[in-house]
Amino acid sequence: MMQLLILLRQNFPLLHLLVAALALAIAPAAAPQNWQPLENDGLRDPASPALKLLQQPAAALSTLPPDTAGNRVRWVKALDDGHINPRTNLRAETKVQTYDKDVLLDLNGSMPVVRFPHRVHTLWLDCSNCHDHIFKKQRGATKISMFNILQGEQCGLCHGAVAFPLTECSRCHSTSRKDAKAELAREAAEAAEAAQAADVSLPKAGAK
Ligand code: HEC
Ligand code: HEC
Ligand code: HEC
Repeated sequence: MMQLLILLRQNFPLLHLLVAALALAIAPAAAPQNWQPLENDGLRDPASPALKLLQQPAAALSTLPPDTAGNRVRWVKALDDGHINPRTNLRAETKVQTYDKDVLLDLNGSMPVVRFPHRVHTLWLDCSNCHDHIFKKQRGATKISMFNILQGEQCGLCHGAVAFPLTECSRCHSTSRKDAKAELAREAAEAAEAAQAADVSLPKAGAK
């Protein structure tokens, strides 16, 4: 990690502030591996008899797929492997919608490309949690930056708050530039092919 920060510092003198903020963000990663018992979590009255009625976090969370960061649970795996099965909606009229497209962001930066996976997000969230007030519905249309993210905006609204923390750089910056470019070229070729097929099958307006 230190090496990465030094590398960033050499390449981007203007990113000093970002690097300092990242170093701060990294500090909590050294937190103890164990979950705080409820009586020590600083949120509840340790003298309250009601504490005994609540399940301890260690009892609930230690059976789920482990993580090394955040609250020590790999939540996407917990859901995908069927360890948990949260209710998708409270009201019957809510329309549950999932979306499978990965969006590749940050193609020209110094870090590996960011792969934003819609699938894992829409398993927990509704489109309206992000669109269009946080992110536009078009790749590259929103000006996203690591600076904003570290300030708790954009991805940082949730990551570091309710989802895995910003110290896990490679979970977002996960794709090599070469693979990302190849994937986008493939997508563009498929889209062009689909457009051509649609063009052929459409009746020509004004054709005799
Ligand atoms: C929750 C996801 C997420 C995490 C975790 C994350 N980043 Fe980012 N990062 C992004 C996004 C999104 C962008 C902006 C993409 C764009 O330009 O559209 C970005 C941009 C950047 C940039 C500027 C562009 C570039 O590549 O030079 C740097 C530097 C950067 N991140 C470093 C880091 C470092 C170091 C860490 C770990 C300490 C980290 N990021 C963790 C999502 C993340
Ligand atoms: C956790 C936040 C989040 C949620 C929830 C979310 N999206 Fe997105 N979506 C994004 C981001 C980030 C982008 C990229 C925006 C950018 O680059 O400006 C994006 C882009 C898109 C795009 C454009 C893709 C492209 O390749 O140009 C579409 C279409 C889209 N979203 C549809 C949806 C739909 C439909 C849902 C719900 C089923 C949804 N999104 C839920 C964050 C989200
Ligand atoms: C509205 C809340 C929200 C926003 C905004 C958001 N995320 Fe997430 N993200 C989640 C939740 C919840 C999960 C699942 C829990 C977890 O993995 O900690 C998740 C999971 C992920 C995962 C999958 C981790 C895995 O284990 O497979 C990636 C990668 C990711 N987010 C990247 C991003 C990036 C990049 C952005 C910004 C472009 C972003 N997220 C914005 C809530 C959000």
